[in-house]
Amino acid sequence: MPAHIAVLDFGSQYTQVIARRIREAKVLSRIYSYKTTAAEMRAAGVCGIILSGGPSSVLAEASPRPDAAVFEMGIPILGICYGEQLMAHMLGGQVAHSKEREYGHGTLSINQKSRLFEGLPDTLRVWNSHGDRIEQLPDGFAAVASTENSPYATIEDASRNFYGMQFHPEVAHSEMGMEVMANFLFKICGISADWSMANYIEQSVQQIREMVGDEHVILGLSGGVDSSVAAALIHKAIGRQLTCVFVDNGLLRLHEREQVEKLYGDHFDLDVRVADERKRFLERLDGISDPEQKRKIIGNTFVEVFDEAVQDLKAHGNYTYLAQGTLYPDVIESVAIDGNPAALIKSHHNVGGLPEKMNLKLLEPLRELFKDEVRELGSQLGLPREVVWRQPFPGPGLGVRVMGPVREASLTVLREADAILHEEMMAADLYYKVWQSFCVFLPVKTVGVMGDERTYENVVALRIVESVDAMTADWARVPYDVLRTISNRIINEVTGCNRVVLDISSKPPGTIEWE
Ligand code: XMP
Repeated sequence: MPAHIAVLDFGSQYTQVIARRIREAKVLSRIYSYKTTAAEMRAAGVCGIILSGGPSSVLAEASPRPDAAVFEMGIPILGICYGEQLMAHMLGGQVAHSKEREYGHGTLSINQKSRLFEGLPDTLRVWNSHGDRIEQLPDGFAAVASTENSPYATIEDASRNFYGMQFHPEVAHSEMGMEVMANFLFKICGISADWSMANYIEQSVQQIREMVGDEHVILGLSGGVDSSVAAALIHKAIGRQLTCVFVDNGLLRLHEREQVEKLYGDHFDLDVRVADERKRFLERLDGISDPEQKRKIIGNTFVEVFDEAVQDLKAHGNYTYLAQGTLYPDVIESVAIDGNPAALIKSHHNVGGLPEKMNLKLLEPLRELFKDEVRELGSQLGLPREVVWRQPFPGPGLGVRVMGPVREASLTVLREADAILHEEMMAADLYYKVWQSFCVFLPVKTVGVMGDERTYENVVALRIVESVDAMTADWARVPYDVLRTISNRIINEVTGCNRVVLDISSKPPGTIEWE
């Protein structure tokens, strides 16, 4: 690899955030396990090291330590939080448990000139989160900044280019944290800002090729952003050694399966196998109206179907990897097991613990990325806007948008109504502006009149919401004229629906989906 920054991971929840900040500064970096040796890093082209934070205490015997030789490499090192304490502890200083845990905002006073703070004000609001504190500095170190609770909030040995900070410059709550990191990267490590998403693609493609060799990979393609981008990236690396399985569960939107086949199969030349399991899902759902039970049935059936598809593929080829579009936010923080950061981070398996059961290794090329980065990556890989900026769609699909028992007739009404809503939201240039816009089928019949005839048909509800993270949401103020067109078209064009209502509930107390 070309010259790059190593982020040594000691299990901090912010390790990936550090890597992201470095990418934002357009610098090449890679996250390494704390166990990586100095020799391995030197051979890989590392020209600066950031020791991440972590949940352990350097005072605990089993706490994770880097190879002591990293301090002999002659390259700049920045220790953040636990990383700073490690540096102090391993180089001969003293660290002790603090009486008060410093957590939250603090004011950093910069007392001495330091290249880390060049061009920055004398005081900064910074974010802290630590229990231990440094009591005595190692030889050669000086304190350059302090906070209310800590005289050693930033320390340095400028002659060896070793820097340590108790606060977290990588988190958004630390004022000018990005500038502090940029000073480390450019003024201290002297690295250039030439990283781009195109480099990332190149780097990932190479890593995937090295990892997979001549083996084969299976990926569960849902058509959503994450699995689509993962598929496009892996396909770029290994072409037809990747096989995608797309499960048609009978709960898809209008023409969704055909669109997936056309885009990925024809346009991208991906090997997509469609498992047509509509019958199995709908039979299992027959007569079930409890939302939780529906979700369980759909989830379990998916696992079963996917497992069968995988076993079938494995019988016909050298399939040894299961690829998933797991993103950084899906990588759930967990508790430290025996203080070992390697065991800290638990994978959020999109397909519920399947890889172990299926005896497959995991390939997760998007693990270090955040959603907006994945979207950029997808665009650069040539995925169309409709895929990259697609609204979220729940795993159980239309199964949780037909209230009550899921029947084919209800699904047909819902699909047609939903397609009209989609078309009109696009036409009004609103589809990409809202968080989600979809229809819900209500198993309620109401009376209407069409022409001279009395009708007695079902109701469709429109759910259109704005949100930033789906944790809270508000109903979108769609112009009346647009709503009128949607409603007129659904009632006129969809057989089986004679009334359209608008959901004006916020979340909380409502949820976005109705089930
Ligand atoms: P709620 O209804 O809880 O939805 O306000 C929040 C967001 O999550 C989506 N959602 C799901 N996504 N599997 C998914 O992958 C699910 O079972 C599921 N349920 C809800 C929902 O569409 C919204 O964006």
